[in-house]
Amino acid sequence: MSYFTEAASVQTVNARMGEATDARLAEVMACLVKHLHAFAKEIGLTQQEWEAGIDFLTRTGQICSGERQEFILLSDVLGFSMLVDAINNRRPTGATENTVFGPFHVEGAPIREMGECISLDGKGESCLFEGRVLDLDGNPVEGATVDVWSDNADGFYDVQQPDIQPKWNNRGRFVTGPDGRYSFVGIKPVSYPIPDDGPVGQMLGKLGRHPYRPAHMHYLVTAPGCQKLVTHTFVGGDTYLGSDAVFGVKDSLIAPYERIDGDTVWRSPFDFILVPA
Ligand code: BEZ
Ligand code: FE
Repeated sequence: MSYFTEAASVQTVNARMGEATDARLAEVMACLVKHLHAFAKEIGLTQQEWEAGIDFLTRTGQICSGERQEFILLSDVLGFSMLVDAINNRRPTGATENTVFGPFHVEGAPIREMGECISLDGKGESCLFEGRVLDLDGNPVEGATVDVWSDNADGFYDVQQPDIQPKWNNRGRFVTGPDGRYSFVGIKPVSYPIPDDGPVGQMLGKLGRHPYRPAHMHYLVTAPGCQKLVTHTFVGGDTYLGSDAVFGVKDSLIAPYERIDGDTVWRSPFDFILVPA
């Protein structure tokens, strides 16, 4: 047994762990304590800074509700969500890359016919999204569910404006047939700020960072025998591509947008390549 000292702080704390502790939990906690203590030592954390940190985390917890998850937002803006996503979704070349899930997905969006329109509020620039769901060998994936969601032309998801936007605005699920094709009409998405009226927004302000995400369409693609794909396609040329507040942009996810139908409609083609489960 040894009492706590600055020099042996990590060993002292980690030695307290019970013998029967779950092996993975023990590994995770020991490593967390090691890095947390190293952080405080390296930075020479003051009492005042520790208190500010506790206060920040307290406010982060207090603003959380059924509709608001400020801790995930914190993880997002620290690049931590993207790091965990990268570690857990290392894919072979050619496979579509994952990106951050975000807080605005809603389970159970309506299953729609191919080609159907998901924009229900009549706002925004019409855009045809189409492509194929393929496996790594280029074969079409039948029975894939392509679950899509985006903000409206004002930069808000339907769930952020339940009294203003129609339910399921800019959302839908499409199930592929034998050709693996999907298509739907939505709007060309616009860039928007992540919720920045809480402690995470205040932190971004103090760090001289803006809260904007570049315009994107969200996709959750699932198919029997394939790994789940959580991704977006981004609008090329967006002002915020290089400074996404949550670090979600990847080169391979920037989709083409071209004008069709006498320039009245946009078209954004994109194929999704899935890997075996
Ligand atoms: C989103 O793209 O919907 C999103 C992702 C992370 C944080 C906030 C919003
Ligand atoms: Fe989004």
